[in-house]
Amino acid sequence: MTPRKVLVTGGAGFIGSHVAEAYRARGEHVWVLDDLSSGRRENVSPGIELVVLDVGSGDVGALFREAGGFDVVNHHAAQIDVRTSVADPRLDARVNLDGLLNLLECARGYGTQRFVFVSSGGVIYGEPAARPTPETAPKLPLSPYGVSKLASEHYLHYYQRVHGLEYVALRYANVYGPRQDPNGEAGVVSIFSSRLMAGEPLTIFGDGEQTRDFVYVGDVVTANLLATDLALPPATDLEARAFNVATGRETSVNGLARALMAVAGREVATLHAPERPGELRHSCLDVRRLRGRGWRAATSLGDGLARTYEFICAQGAVR
Ligand SMILES: NC(=O)c1ccc[n+]([C@@H]2O[C@H](COP(=O)([O-])OP(=O)(O)OC[C@H]3O[C@@H](n4cnc5c(N)ncnc54)[C@H](O)[C@@H]3O)[C@@H](O)[C@H]2O)c1
Repeated sequence: MTPRKVLVTGGAGFIGSHVAEAYRARGEHVWVLDDLSSGRRENVSPGIELVVLDVGSGDVGALFREAGGFDVVNHHAAQIDVRTSVADPRLDARVNLDGLLNLLECARGYGTQRFVFVSSGGVIYGEPAARPTPETAPKLPLSPYGVSKLASEHYLHYYQRVHGLEYVALRYANVYGPRQDPNGEAGVVSIFSSRLMAGEPLTIFGDGEQTRDFVYVGDVVTANLLATDLALPPATDLEARAFNVATGRETSVNGLARALMAVAGREVATLHAPERPGELRHSCLDVRRLRGRGWRAATSLGDGLARTYEFICAQGAVR
């Protein structure tokens, strides 16, 4: 098969870099577009072309022109921090909406066959009434970040219906694994792993009985590959092209801390800090739709935590 031209935005970051590698391993010709605001050059493997650019830049059009268009655009670049979006909703919209529209206009203009968009099942449903939460649940995001992810899905639906641009929206739960930033706010698994390695106490906000659906990055990668080639139903509504990517299982933060200590074979103290305002109490997604297409979250929590902890330790050793 002739290799396809695939553009992975945010491909120098945590999840996008794994996705870019998987396309490359499949024999595709891969470009990564990333402004390196949180991504790292070292995350981009040899054989992948890194273009350092803001997703909202006018030069994105020139990239499409020079490449002769991309068959597939896989859009991971984003402002990912919920609290940043609350503090500065316009910044969030500039990256997550203006950046998306810039890409969509290029994709439409240069005949892209499939646009894979990364949404968030952790935020677009707000505090859901039903768990595991299905794709059809009410969408009531409680942050500008959630609003921009949901609005993005509406834009994609419009581009499909009016311009014929085919898309899939993947609504991730809490993704964890190697390369997630242990210094950021998003990755509790990386943060706990890094503290555990250093023998430092783990800080748990609130009572620790809040739950999340932790999905391993390797399984998120297989969902992306599937989404790239999935036979799609007509885009009758927002749900037709949207798939939760999760495990369907809930783990409390206390449970996560215990599981990680078991994996690491060492114990540290846990400290409780005040609950953070605006945080969801529970989040867990129904994955039957994507499972019905042959996907499953194949990695157990224990295995995924072990790989992440090993990675953090190996990184610590080279610093
Ligand atoms: N990590 C999770 O649990 C999770 C959950 C739901 C959705 N997501 C989504 O997955 C995607 C990837 O997130 P991640 O966790 O890998 O975070 P990340 O910060 O590691 O990756 C984001 C990448 O986008 C790049 N980027 C940011 N702004 C950019 C801009 N203006 N132009 C070009 N590049 C830019 C960053 O440099 C980084 O490499 C995001 O769309 C995020 O919203 C992540």
